Amino acid sequence: MSDGDRDRLLPHAQDGIEEYDNPLPGWWVWIFWVTIVFSLGYWAYYQLGPGPSVVAVYEAEMREAAARRPAAPTVGAVSDQALLALQKSAGALAKGKEIFAGKCMPCHGDRGQGTVGPNLTDDYWVHGGRPGEIYRTITEGVPEKGMVPWKTQLSPDEIAAVTAYIGTLRGTSPPNPKPPEGQQVAADGSPLR
Ligand code: HEC
Repeated sequence: MSDGDRDRLLPHAQDGIEEYDNPLPGWWVWIFWVTIVFSLGYWAYYQLGPGPSVVAVYEAEMREAAARRPAAPTVGAVSDQALLALQKSAGALAKGKEIFAGKCMPCHGDRGQGTVGPNLTDDYWVHGGRPGEIYRTITEGVPEKGMVPWKTQLSPDEIAAVTAYIGTLRGTSPPNPKPPEGQQVAADGSPLR
């Protein structure tokens, strides 16, 4: 393209000011149109088509991050460590003992030896013997077997307290124990093979 072609004088003038016709370079105009076409496709893919929404991408990333996190030793909402630590709190144990005497004794015996419900002092557990598992059993209950889901009557703190109290009953060998039920588990609650 010669200068003569580019700088053609346009046929109007304003107060003696004249204007050249300087067309935009072809490559620039090309890119301009390509971006417009691209934006239409992009918009259609994400708004109308199968493109994931911002929220879906965020949730997928959060799931990935959660999967990468090392598995916390929790069952349900409360960690084994927190419940074990609670076994050292005199206040929590007193509260747990009171709850046990008031609500659990009729089926589990005054010392946890078991009557209608299983023995809670031995190493055998139907629903898992880790503190978190015991917490979950108390919370959700086993309604079809007559064990109440205590979350309707006890707060999470109260359930934690009674879980801690049950932890202290283990190995106490009270008289007239109910025979073992379920699986034998180690002191840390892991299954024995
Ligand atoms: C109406 C009777 C009843 C009452 C009251 C009751 N339980 Fe139970 N509980 C049961 C029965 C029955 C089972 C056995 C469920 C099964 O075999 O699946 C059980 C199971 C359990 C287990 C699981 C034992 C295992 O081997 O896995 C725990 C822990 C427990 N109860 C704690 C409690 C606590 C704490 C309370 C009081 C807040 C309580 N229970 C009150 C009847 C009762």
